[in-house]
Amino acid sequence: MKAKIAVLAGDGIGPEVIAEAVPVLQAVARRFGHEFTLSAAPFGGIAIDRHGEPLPAATLERCLASDAILLGAIGGPKWSSPQAKVRPETGLLRLRRELGVYANLRPVSVHPELRHASSLKPEIIEGVDLIFVRELTGGIYFGAKTRDAFQATDLCTYTAPEIERIVRVAAQIARTRRRRLLSIDKSNVLETSRLWREVCERVMHNEFPDVQLEHMLVDSAAMHLIRRPRDIDVAVTENMFGDILTDEASMLCGSLGLLPSASLGDGTRGLYEPIHGSAPDIAGQGIANPYGAILSVALLLRHSLRLEQEARAVELAVHRAIGDGVRTADIAASNQRPATTQEAGAAVLAALA
Ligand code: IPM
Ligand code: MG
Repeated sequence: MKAKIAVLAGDGIGPEVIAEAVPVLQAVARRFGHEFTLSAAPFGGIAIDRHGEPLPAATLERCLASDAILLGAIGGPKWSSPQAKVRPETGLLRLRRELGVYANLRPVSVHPELRHASSLKPEIIEGVDLIFVRELTGGIYFGAKTRDAFQATDLCTYTAPEIERIVRVAAQIARTRRRRLLSIDKSNVLETSRLWREVCERVMHNEFPDVQLEHMLVDSAAMHLIRRPRDIDVAVTENMFGDILTDEASMLCGSLGLLPSASLGDGTRGLYEPIHGSAPDIAGQGIANPYGAILSVALLLRHSLRLEQEARAVELAVHRAIGDGVRTADIAASNQRPATTQEAGAAVLAALA
């Protein structure tokens, strides 16, 4: 097949992990006989430096004209002083909104080899296989803001249709798995959460009677996530709760550097990024973990290009590389020389060949 893929390397370790992910895409194209046209565009802090804004019009156009977008990471201390007028993060939120990618999928599974890389006990995390479905284009991230020297406001709004569509995405995924959906909210305090719960109940009752629904308050979910993570199959939640809980969930598998994400809307076009940030503290050292970015390539192949076999091949190659002990500093065993970013990328390519 032919596909156009926009590549936004971004800031910090973004370009380093993308440099390992792109050859994987190219290797898949060669091995399976596809034609992928990749085009790089400035985005994030680097775009602020060059063009004065994090999401230049040409970059957005390129993304809108592509079948999928692969993103590294954005941000850094250079652009995040409290006085900063433009921020890289604003560009990311705008990109998500403009692309209409309201459903952010963050799968978390534990590689057997990495049982001991987690800060949690192996017996707690063994066999964990869950997926977070985070609402991505609504809530407090996008509400009106006010600010003066004395007071600040961030407004949190959700509409019933916004809740309906994200619940549907999550329930459909649950149908392909263990048919269990956990909806996370704060309905004992927040009005948006009370609407969330009501709409969720209705959609599930009317359209997904075959999927078992459980509600949980977000504070309690934060606790259960590290107490009995195996019990979770699919979890659906609003934007900010999802942001926080997925960083927590990443610790189940050992490192934030391992987790990929897919952001989808109603069509097949999607935005794919590792869930980690730009990690300015380790940028430029060649030690970042590229597996989250490479696994994001697998999600891109699966969701936007509908190439399931190819997606599996990439996932298998990452599993092989980890199984062979190729582990960057964040997941290395204590008696092991950590692999560099490049070595990890090369190991995936070798496993794919
Ligand atoms: C994420 C990140 C972003 C978010 C930041 C960079 C705006 O933390 O994708 O989880 O909060 O959504
Ligand atoms: Mg986050």
